[in-house]
Amino acid sequence: MSKTPVIIVHGGAWAIPDSLAEGSVQGVRLASTVGYKVLGAGGSAVDAVEEAVRSMEDNPVFDAGVGSVLNADGEVEMDAVIMDGRDLKSGAVGCVQNIKNPISLARAVMEKTDHTLIVGKGANKFAEEVNAVTLPTNQLVTETARREWEELMKFRTTVTKLFSPRDTVQKESVPVAPGHDTVGAVALDTQGNIAFGTSTGGITAKRPGRIGDSPIIGAGGYADNNIGGVSTTGHGESIAKVCLAKHITHLMEGGMTPQTASETALTFMAKRVQGSGGVVVLNDNGNIGRHFTTERMAWAWVKDNVLHHGLNPGEDFSENVK
Ligand code: GLY
Repeated sequence: MSKTPVIIVHGGAWAIPDSLAEGSVQGVRLASTVGYKVLGAGGSAVDAVEEAVRSMEDNPVFDAGVGSVLNADGEVEMDAVIMDGRDLKSGAVGCVQNIKNPISLARAVMEKTDHTLIVGKGANKFAEEVNAVTLPTNQLVTETARREWEELMKFRTTVTKLFSPRDTVQKESVPVAPGHDTVGAVALDTQGNIAFGTSTGGITAKRPGRIGDSPIIGAGGYADNNIGGVSTTGHGESIAKVCLAKHITHLMEGGMTPQTASETALTFMAKRVQGSGGVVVLNDNGNIGRHFTTERMAWAWVKDNVLHHGLNPGEDFSENVK
């Protein structure tokens, strides 16, 4: 029996500044609509999450693709992952440079190699093999990313431990991450297949070569047709420690709703490793969950031609899809 298609996306957690707030909301509304149209035309969940994530990678507001944040050397190193819930096949890239759409390169890893994760020079070499579209650094780096980098580099010694004001444990001596983090999407198609995709420039002033949670299966996301799908955002080291996405699908497998599982897992992460973040979640019936423990997270989801979106805690606006 045909399923009602659903897509949910996020444009990253953290204390998104007012200057990026409106752009973030518009960006997730557009990305969810783009993905929903793919599903409405009979496209697969994998196609839908790839298109939704590409839309956000091409949008300079977000920390993925164009707009990615800078590492300690002032360079862009991006991570992305995609997973097909039919057979748990996945593909990911880490620390790639000058790639316009890392999510499509991750999909090529899934479909054209025997591997699940390729990083650094090897990933860029693979990108040449599959004719991935490249962009020069000056077209990937935005003024916002450059300013964030200059600010964060002042805290060089503690920069790998970024906290949000809403953390339960906050250290006064460390900076509050000012910007944005990671984009992602989860979709359920008419065939009942679930997929997720996540893409990021990581965290500002990270050590060169650092990979966080995003391209790691079970941390940056998870998709299993029999349970549901998750895409995560937030402090990568914390998310990886608690395998946040797999934690959520495990809770759903035990009978929790996507919303309760999201809240339970993020509360656990805050208590156990003092980390903040956000998630978007779908289960195999197309019920959604979304939650964040940072100041803000741009999110949007579409089902039955109705689009919901929000940015601040407690917000849930809705409108018909045009
Ligand atoms: N959540 C993205 C990162 O920490 O790299």
